[in-house]
Amino acid sequence: MANHQLLSLATAIAAIIATVSAASYNVYSFGAKPDGRTDSTKAFMAAWSSACGSTMPATVYVPKGRFMVGGLQFSGPCKNGAITLRIDGTLVAPANYFVLANADYWVMFHGVQGVTIVGGTLDAQGAGLWACKSSGSRNCPNGATSLAISNSNDVIVYGLSSVNSQMFHIVVNGCRNVKVLGVNVVAPSTSPNTDGIHVQLSTGVTILNSKIGTGDDCVSIGPGATNLWIEGVACGPGHGISIGSLGKDLNEEGVSNVTVKRVSFTGTENGLRIKSWARPSNGFVNGVLFQNAIMTNVQNPIVIDQHYCPGSKNCPDQASGVRISNVKYEDVHGTSATKVAVKFDCSKQYPCRGITMQDVNLSFKNEFQASSYCVNAGGTTSGVMKPTSCF
Ligand SMILES: *[C@@H]1O[C@H](CO)[C@@H](O)[C@H](O)[C@H]1NC(C)=O
Ligand SMILES: *[C@@H]1O[C@H](CO)[C@@H](O)[C@H](O)[C@H]1NC(C)=O
Repeated sequence: MANHQLLSLATAIAAIIATVSAASYNVYSFGAKPDGRTDSTKAFMAAWSSACGSTMPATVYVPKGRFMVGGLQFSGPCKNGAITLRIDGTLVAPANYFVLANADYWVMFHGVQGVTIVGGTLDAQGAGLWACKSSGSRNCPNGATSLAISNSNDVIVYGLSSVNSQMFHIVVNGCRNVKVLGVNVVAPSTSPNTDGIHVQLSTGVTILNSKIGTGDDCVSIGPGATNLWIEGVACGPGHGISIGSLGKDLNEEGVSNVTVKRVSFTGTENGLRIKSWARPSNGFVNGVLFQNAIMTNVQNPIVIDQHYCPGSKNCPDQASGVRISNVKYEDVHGTSATKVAVKFDCSKQYPCRGITMQDVNLSFKNEFQASSYCVNAGGTTSGVMKPTSCF
């Protein structure tokens, strides 16, 4: 389905939900002010409490305008299993980043079931914090993730925009059955740690028809992500779609059954990446399908890097314990911004096993100059294979 169809479907569904729901709570009537300055946190929380306490399906409605809100924690369990947060306006974070400071999250849904978030913009005004971080000052707070869905089931995020997050834009953590559809993520390529969508310790997450341009990973996939489906995502600028970093800890949940299809990368640092720390770990990656990816001027279109050790601290010369197996690349084509278009740099302790490549056609300047690089990696190829395989 095309994005506009998806969005009109979303709008139609939201309208239906709004009409059938017995309860609708407009943040405006709880005292929220659409002036971009007045702190509306209490009004939003009061509207949520009413919706969550309703025994019938309920809607929290945010009209047009800019609403300044501090940390919003929308917690369950609720008395009904069908709450819609419908946003026509923009939520704006406090301009002073010390207000959210080290709160990990700005807008958070925790322990909820059956929540749909439709439309709206989250503007975290991250620029001040990024400037603080890049000035090398040690007094900068970490900053907050703009939207977190945690320990929740059956959540849908439709047609939301997230701009200029302080840290990650959207995080899905400890969830089952979450759909993120038609979202638009925007931050400059220079903004630090602004991952688009991060998924971990969750099963049955779908990310569909979205556009993500940011300063860090487009989508990052952490430990314990299983049955993950990513389709129709356009990335750039940013660091690409990354499974990892994994294996930072000795005991870690594995990543399995991940599908990434119909994706494009434009001017990104990486395309399809798997990354692990060079440290002992019982983590793993098993069963990944990368299918139908278009690369345009991507620095590392296909990369597995198991030697991640920033600053060479606490891991030099160690082998990664993360076992990587059954990874398939199918129909990946376009241009690499560097000569090495395919790089498999795997663990000497646990070489990558069962990599399959089918119809890969990546060029650097002209199609003969790209090369591939393998260390401790084994697999098979079929169909077109450019650059020539290094298995
Ligand atoms: C893999 O995940 C997809 C959803 O992404 C799911 O439909 C499928 O059943 C899963 N396969 C297995 C073997 O669990
Ligand atoms: C590989 O891609 C190049 C550039 O798009 C194209 O000219 C060439 O025909 C492709 N090769 C194959 C075998 O598909």
